[in-house]
Amino acid sequence: MSLPAILGGDPVGALHARWPVWSDREGALIAKALESGHWAGEGPMERAFERSFARLQTCAHGLCVANGTVALQLAFEALDVGVGDEVIVPGLTWQATAAAVLDVNAIPVLVDVCPQTLCLDPALVAAAITPRTRAIVVVHLYGAVADLDAIGAIAERHGLVLVEDCAHAHGSCWRDRGVGSMGNIGAFSFQASKTLTAGEGGFVTTDDDSLYERLYSLRNCGRRRPGSAEANWRPMQSGNYRMTELQAAILVGQLERLEDQCRRRAANASALDDAIGAIPGVSPQRCDERVTRRNLYAYVFWYDPLAFAGLSVRSFRRALQLETGVAFRAPYRPLDMSALYQPRTKRRHRLGDEYWAAIDPSRHSLPVARRAYELAVVFSHEVLLEDQADVLSIATAIKRLHAGAEALRGWELGEAVPA
Ligand SMILES: Cc1ncc(COP(=O)(O)O)c(C=O)c1O
Repeated sequence: MSLPAILGGDPVGALHARWPVWSDREGALIAKALESGHWAGEGPMERAFERSFARLQTCAHGLCVANGTVALQLAFEALDVGVGDEVIVPGLTWQATAAAVLDVNAIPVLVDVCPQTLCLDPALVAAAITPRTRAIVVVHLYGAVADLDAIGAIAERHGLVLVEDCAHAHGSCWRDRGVGSMGNIGAFSFQASKTLTAGEGGFVTTDDDSLYERLYSLRNCGRRRPGSAEANWRPMQSGNYRMTELQAAILVGQLERLEDQCRRRAANASALDDAIGAIPGVSPQRCDERVTRRNLYAYVFWYDPLAFAGLSVRSFRRALQLETGVAFRAPYRPLDMSALYQPRTKRRHRLGDEYWAAIDPSRHSLPVARRAYELAVVFSHEVLLEDQADVLSIATAIKRLHAGAEALRGWELGEAVPA
């Protein structure tokens, strides 16, 4: 094996993936929306997108909303989760999953994730349930789907509602059913980094007719849906959580690409799983066999420094980046140590001493999430849209680092590098 690039060798490859991907098609759709003069408020693009995306996720209903954070918040409000209720939230996720719980004055109870999938660990959920628990949120994290069979059964047994945070899993299916269709409500994000994007935006899905009516009202200043059985009912209290027709126009175009992109990502991820799985000291995030269509927001693998002569994960990520051109990073910081999850910095959350103590994230223990933050390696989904041979160069580069681990560790310790 030749010298690692960080020690002066030639890099294995140069992957320069771009995101978002778009063409004249999105341009034409935006122009059409502009010309229609119908820039917001359930225009034809928004309705068409809602129907198509809900169908893709095998859900009876879907509604566009302002972003993924709001999608979660409206899900909790529609399900009447509120003051003093406990909501079980995985400890490894973007902060919005827990922040939306705070925003309805409920208490996020942070539960650790499963080391194989990095999703909420069903074995720990039951122990976290108390008489105050009202809801469980699963997050289908990076390239995995949470164990919906096990967690769905726990929710049913305990009379809890289940919300699916699908911000990473557009298009993914569990036993041929779209994610977002197995919980009471599914919440999606269309923020710029996501695999279906309009720059910003969000979506809620449900099979339940009355939840659909509530979600409709909640996103639209409390108004009842015209034509619904509830049309003449008194409005609900809410605010404006709508998206624009221009965002919907982009989403119509992006959705036309999604299924093909899912296929490419899944095929490349599966080839990479095999290649990485054969290298000592690294192991990919597990994708459950019950996932019948896989999309990936990011590719993740565990790294064991002991198999690389003690080379730190930071140096490993840096060396791998120089080999491939891909940016490798750590997973999310666990929510008990997240810089952006700071419930006790907002006066609105000071609902009393008991609540203040209950929302302190440091009361939770998240050893697996913490280990993932310290030892896992993540790269973004657009890399998986490249040619398979290029994607597999990541495995070749890892092999090279494995072969050169002693020299790399010496370099890290400041020792002389072999010529
Ligand atoms: C898991 C998860 N949930 C929720 C969100 C919130 O979505 P948004 O940024 O659209 O508010 C994100 C976005 O980053 C996310 O990654």
